Amino acid sequence: MHKVLGINCSCRRYGNSDVLLQEALLSARESGTEVEYLRLSDYNIKQCRGCLSCVFTGRCVIKDDDMPFLWDKMKTSDGLLVSAPTYVFSPAGIVKMVIDRAFICAKDLDDVFGRNRVAAIISVAGNSEWNPLGVENLNVLPLAYGYRIVDYLEAYATGPGEVLLDEKNINGAKRLGVTVAAELQGKSNRKNPEPGQCPVCYSKSFHFSGSGEVMCCTCGINGRVSLSEGKWTLTTTPDDIQNHFFSYKHRREHLDNWIIPSKDKFLANREAIKERLRKYKEVVW
Ligand SMILES: Cc1cc2nc3c(=O)[nH]c(=O)nc-3n(C[C@H](O)[C@H](O)[C@H](O)COP(=O)(O)O)c2cc1C
Repeated sequence: MHKVLGINCSCRRYGNSDVLLQEALLSARESGTEVEYLRLSDYNIKQCRGCLSCVFTGRCVIKDDDMPFLWDKMKTSDGLLVSAPTYVFSPAGIVKMVIDRAFICAKDLDDVFGRNRVAAIISVAGNSEWNPLGVENLNVLPLAYGYRIVDYLEAYATGPGEVLLDEKNINGAKRLGVTVAAELQGKSNRKNPEPGQCPVCYSKSFHFSGSGEVMCCTCGINGRVSLSEGKWTLTTTPDDIQNHFFSYKHRREHLDNWIIPSKDKFLANREAIKERLRKYKEVVW
């Protein structure tokens, strides 16, 4: 049976992220998957040290936190449902802490990308006008851990549990459970992106260049925008879609052609860097 893991990134017990994630998981279970629920606030996740030991040795230098446990849970799950509250325009900080640790899966890339792993996220905020990066930044988590995004939900309420007052939120959460389960069971049920949304990750945030070329700020795909009869259109090719930043091909190339060679490049310049660093080491702050 397929396994769906749910990760709640809010500290508020029975808060909005909590209850909507529970709805999504219950519906995934009703749709025939095995489910497991985790509250991230029950675990100890430390900040990435930036040493890249996970890439070069296959082992993280942080020995006293729960990231290996969390990665093991994600690695062995086929589906992922993640919910998080928005704090100051973006998902709560713990989401970024987990994203930054994602090189932990470098050694398992072939295994992870060799399977059909799908995800959907729930972004909860007080007000739709103050949540411009909720979906965009929360979707980086499943992408970084090797999942394909198949649906998402934005829900708006402030007090804990207040999302339950609007049936639309509950139905939306249930839909995510159904979509994730169906996609795992080989039934095509992915949410269609709206016009102007990234076809890979549903982002509405793009970097513009003067010529009309755009790049998705979440998954890095290229596209083109054009204005016709007062209407903007985003177009992408199948090649654009396949070559997103979190695809297996790009992840492999990033590791093999960029990160791994960066070590020798650094070592070749180590003496020159040491010399330039002396000034800063002599300063007493
Ligand atoms: C520190 C803090 C910052 C917040 N920043 C935003 C924000 O930028 N935009 C927004 O729409 N809501 C913001 N909110 C409201 C929460 O996103 C909202 O209350 C949400 O329902 C909390 O979800 P939870 O119950 O799952 O924790 C903020 C709340 C807190 C506590």
